[in-house]
Amino acid sequence: MGQITARQLGFALGAEVTGIDLRKPLNDLARREILDAWHRHLVLVFPGQDLSAAEQIAFSRNFGELEENEALPYYRDPGHKEILLVTNRRIGGKPSETRNTGRNWHADLTYTTRPAKGSLLLCREKPAVGGDTMWANLYLAYETLSEPLRRFLDGLEAIHDISLVKGIEKRDPEKVAELRRLNPPVAHAVVKTHPETGRKSLCLGQRIRGFVGMTEEESSPILGFLNQHATSPELVYRHRWSVNDLVMWDNRCTLHVALADFDQGKTRHMTRTSLVGEPSGRIVAEGAAPDREALMQSIASVS
Ligand SMILES: [Fe+2]
Repeated sequence: MGQITARQLGFALGAEVTGIDLRKPLNDLARREILDAWHRHLVLVFPGQDLSAAEQIAFSRNFGELEENEALPYYRDPGHKEILLVTNRRIGGKPSETRNTGRNWHADLTYTTRPAKGSLLLCREKPAVGGDTMWANLYLAYETLSEPLRRFLDGLEAIHDISLVKGIEKRDPEKVAELRRLNPPVAHAVVKTHPETGRKSLCLGQRIRGFVGMTEEESSPILGFLNQHATSPELVYRHRWSVNDLVMWDNRCTLHVALADFDQGKTRHMTRTSLVGEPSGRIVAEGAAPDREALMQSIASVS
C-alpha cells in the first residue's frame, strides 16, 4: 500500500500528488514514491501545501543539494538564499525585476554549467484568473523526431545565453551587465541522457543562440523547428495555479514557460527552490559561430 496518491493530469506529463503533508519530515518510502512518480510524470503538483520558506527548503532538500542562486543574486529572498522570488510585488518601492520572468520556453539555469536538475515552485498569491505555467515533455520531443534528424542532433551542442532571457533588456542595465559577467554563454549537448531514467531527451529552449560550429543562418530554422515541435500542444501540460500549490518539475526532460495571461495590476507571488544539477556544458567565447560571409567568400576560391 503506497503512502501517496498520484493522479495523472496530462497525457504527455503532469500528475497531482495527494495524501501527504509536506510540512512533516518525509520517510524513505514516501520519498521513493515521490521520486518514482516524478520520473514517470516529470511534473508533480502538490495541492494545499501552506509551507513556510524554511519548510519549502527542508522539503526540497530531500531530493538533493539546493541552488543558492549565485547566478541570480538580486532575486533571492533576503532571508533565505535558497529561495528565488518570482514575483510582481514591488521590492524596495520599485517594480520587481522578476515580474516577467520565464516568458519564453526554457529549463532553469541552462545558461550555467550547472543547470538545475529540478525546481520547486510554490504559489503564495495569485490573481483570480490566469498566471498559468506550461510544461513540455522533452523525452517525447526527442522520440517523435525522425531517425535522420535524431542522428544529426546526437553529438551536436547548442549555445545557451542569459542575454536571451525574454525581457532582460528592460531590467537595470548595471545588474544585467553583472548577470552577463556571472553567466557567459555555455554550450550544452542537444541530446542528453537522463542520469536517473536512462532515457534520452532534448536540451532545448528559446535561450539558445545557435549550434556550435554552425552559422546563425543555419541554426535558426532548425532551432525554430525543434522548439516548435517540442512545445506542440500534444506534448504540453498547462497548469492553472491555486494558492499553496507546490509544483516540482524535472528540468532535465522538460521545458516550461510562465504566461502573462493575467491582470498585471494583481499580485502574483511565487517562491522557487532549485536542485543543483550535475556539472555539464562548457563556457564558450561569444561570437564563436562561423561567419557566413567568410564561408560565401570561399566560393570564389573553390570555383
Ligand atoms: Fe523557469
